[in-house]
Amino acid sequence: TGLVTLDSGYGNTAAYKSAVTYLDGEQGILRYRGYPIEQIAERGSFLETAYLLRSGELPTVDELATFRNEITTHTLLHEDVKRFYDGFPRDAHPMAMLSSVVSALSTFYQDSHNPFDERQRHISSIRLLAKLPTIAAYAYKKSVGQPVVYPRNDLGYVENFLRMTFSVPAEEYVPDPVVTNALDKLLILHADHEQNCSTSTVRLVGSSQANLFASISAGINALWGPLHGGANAAVLDMLESIQASGGDVDAFIRKVKNKEDGVRLMGFGHRVYKSFDPRAKIIKAAAHDVLSALGKSDELLDIALRLEEHALSDDYFVSRNLYPNVDFYTGLIYRAMGFPTSMFTVLFAIGRLPGWIAQWEEMITEPGSRIGRPRQIYTGVVERDYVPVEQR
Ligand code: CMC
Repeated sequence: TGLVTLDSGYGNTAAYKSAVTYLDGEQGILRYRGYPIEQIAERGSFLETAYLLRSGELPTVDELATFRNEITTHTLLHEDVKRFYDGFPRDAHPMAMLSSVVSALSTFYQDSHNPFDERQRHISSIRLLAKLPTIAAYAYKKSVGQPVVYPRNDLGYVENFLRMTFSVPAEEYVPDPVVTNALDKLLILHADHEQNCSTSTVRLVGSSQANLFASISAGINALWGPLHGGANAAVLDMLESIQASGGDVDAFIRKVKNKEDGVRLMGFGHRVYKSFDPRAKIIKAAAHDVLSALGKSDELLDIALRLEEHALSDDYFVSRNLYPNVDFYTGLIYRAMGFPTSMFTVLFAIGRLPGWIAQWEEMITEPGSRIGRPRQIYTGVVERDYVPVEQR
């Protein structure tokens, strides 16, 4: 097949043109619609970022108010959606519940399946942005056996999510502004990252003209794996296992370098960044700030710092350009906020949703957009004759 070139893991294949996110892996630059991630994380809000990614421009005061209002009025889930959670086993992974319920939303909103109708695209995007935190909070409630907490329209996006997650009938949870602001910032930092595995999945599924709920559900499943969004949970597991073995960072690094049982330093390395991940820099500082503001100390933070220091001066990691990525320090912040490890990747999904939607919309409205359909290099038997079963 002379015309087809093999590009394992799509290391060098651009599948799309995109105007959403600019990423320079050599210099560690990340910009949403041209705005540096550092500026948006420092001064912007997550809802503003969601608006920016979708529309291409930052909203005016009025546009933001309208957008916020639209989101707020769609946060509630249909009561029948709640019954899905009754059917899941008590120890169901929240990521499985998240993708299943998002897929199930397509059965409730069959009026917005046409990706070529602008109004339908808009309403399904709003419904998803509004409902994903509610779906996530219900999944958490299922896992701890507590009654669900309905959304409240007077609260901000993140405050509402935190309250739905942590309030119990006996005690209303009022989030510390330190927590609200830190989570908002983390969601901003996760909001888009050009053609990563989950975004490419959303685009690929969407390219068949499947509806948005189906496409996003596929993206959530792609995000779940430990090499992608699941890395934030895998980092915590790794830090806990190092702690359990007496905090011996050197021994763990040796294991990684010897590639024992395929052990990797989770939260390190990136396909595109060959220098520091700019998100990781901001998150490392936030981890310190949040822990000290909440008056929490965490031995795992100390282990993480020692791991990072060791890796950054070790030839194995240096020669392979392996630096901490977005997932290295996030788990420590989520843990300090009270989230169990199983919810970490769910938080990533809530953050990434605007990027998935923006990229899906860009793909489906691109003139001449075609179905995604990679080629292959066939390595099987060329041809042989069929043998009836009794003669084999
Ligand atoms: N620990 C140890 N060795 C590593 C690591 C790591 N974290 N990452 C890459 N390597 C080594 C790898 O073994 C290979 O070495 P060699 O040349 O001797 O075979 C070399 O570096 C290149 O690795 P690769 O697997 O070809 O690189 P990739 O671009 O295909 O993979 C990655 C990128 C992010 C999947 C990988 O670095 C990794 O597995 N990291 C750990 C998981 C992780 O933190 N994922 C989160 C990524 S960032 C945000 C997100 O997407 O969620």
